[in-house]
Amino acid sequence: MAKNRTVFVCESCGATHPKWSGQCADCGAWNTLVESVPAAPSKPGGAVPPVRFGDTAPRVEKLNAIRPREQPRTPTGLSELDRVLGGGLVPGSAILIGGDPGIGKSTLLLQMLAQMSADIPALYDTGEESLEQVHLRAQRLGVADADLSVLAETCVERILALAKPQAPRLLVVDSIQTVFSQALTSAPGSVSQVRECASMLVRFAKATGTALILVGHVTKEGTIAGPRVLEHMVDTVLYFEAEASSRFRVIRAVKNRFGAVNELGVFAMSATGLKQVTNPSAIFLSRHEQAVAGSAVMVTREGSRPMLVEVQALVDGSQLHNPRRVALGPDSQRLAMLLAVLHRHGGIALGDQDVFVNVVGGMRVSETAADLAVVLATLSSFRDRPLGERLIIFGEIGLAGEIRPVPGGEERLAEAAKHGFTRAIVPKANAPRAGRIGKLEIVPVSRLPDAIEAVQ
Ligand code: TYD
Ligand code: MG
Repeated sequence: MAKNRTVFVCESCGATHPKWSGQCADCGAWNTLVESVPAAPSKPGGAVPPVRFGDTAPRVEKLNAIRPREQPRTPTGLSELDRVLGGGLVPGSAILIGGDPGIGKSTLLLQMLAQMSADIPALYDTGEESLEQVHLRAQRLGVADADLSVLAETCVERILALAKPQAPRLLVVDSIQTVFSQALTSAPGSVSQVRECASMLVRFAKATGTALILVGHVTKEGTIAGPRVLEHMVDTVLYFEAEASSRFRVIRAVKNRFGAVNELGVFAMSATGLKQVTNPSAIFLSRHEQAVAGSAVMVTREGSRPMLVEVQALVDGSQLHNPRRVALGPDSQRLAMLLAVLHRHGGIALGDQDVFVNVVGGMRVSETAADLAVVLATLSSFRDRPLGERLIIFGEIGLAGEIRPVPGGEERLAEAAKHGFTRAIVPKANAPRAGRIGKLEIVPVSRLPDAIEAVQ
């Protein structure tokens, strides 16, 4: 049989070309042509083939007449992962897990599979390691006796052929960059291979109701290779992240058709695999004997769970022409903006100072609720005066120097009260009417000068 001819598709406009070139002749975009297999030609004038999805033939229905079935979810055995998935695995759903090499994706999945294989048939396909290596890892994790099917194969057609008779309810492919389709000549890991293989696997998942998990490596730019294409094809995209030196790992949903996004699950890497951290507030606070200068504790609310994190700042006279502004955790651009607001509305000039800001435990805080904690920690370091013990701070700062409310104020305050904090500096609109929650005294502020005064 003749080999399928390949075509080159522009990723920007979708035009197909018989040959590769640097520029798309149709839309003029550069470097957007990728090799692809042409769709099978449809017979002209032929009847529309019946499309089948599951057992029901498609028909047009009224939205308000649809009675959705309860989506049964299979718990993964790891509650932190269930939280991120929105309550467990949905049959027929496709999940992409991205993360740097060595962060613990294979470890997490093997732990999960070992637990789940007790209840449902599961298949782990690895394209990166030999089966002996998988066994050694399983031994280390203490799950080598799990009733789990494993396979080391990189050809997607063979993976599907071998998976079908096993009828797994869960299929894990580690990683999508190592698998290839025989229909394409390009190397595994190229955009066209990643896209073609992922779409074959996703079709298999949808047709058989198998939950599919694809592992994806992250490129230097921080996105999963074949970025847009893959993220569109799957139902859920999870990122596994950590600071290089930290043993804590955070798994985050950035897209989820079956749950909330920005939900976080926290794990700690140990000598025997990943351990769940069910009370993450405790790990993101450093234990000081007494209050120290340059430290502020805030409550972040990434996803549905409020979490206490410590923001640290160091302000030091700069030897450089352009003093440094370094932010690990929050965003550097935002730090520069906050320092400008501090100067303009707080009257504190740090133009000749280096400013470093860090979040303890390597946590990445992207919310604007961190603004007030960043500014007050910076001020505290600059003045070399601690902010005070058992103090919690959160709030967004605007360019006009106003302190804006943040979502979930009451939950944040309740979390702080639970951990024994006694004073809270928060946006006025987030302050409860009673003025306190238990032992937690609330200091509402509406402008930056008020907040600076509150920590005099
Ligand atoms: P791995 O799961 O192989 O990462 P990925 O699949 O994301 O590339 O994780 C490997 C790292 O985890 C490696 O640096 C060793 C470490 N590790 C532990 O610290 N403890 C363990 O029990 C295991 C299995 C791995
Ligand atoms: Mg791996």
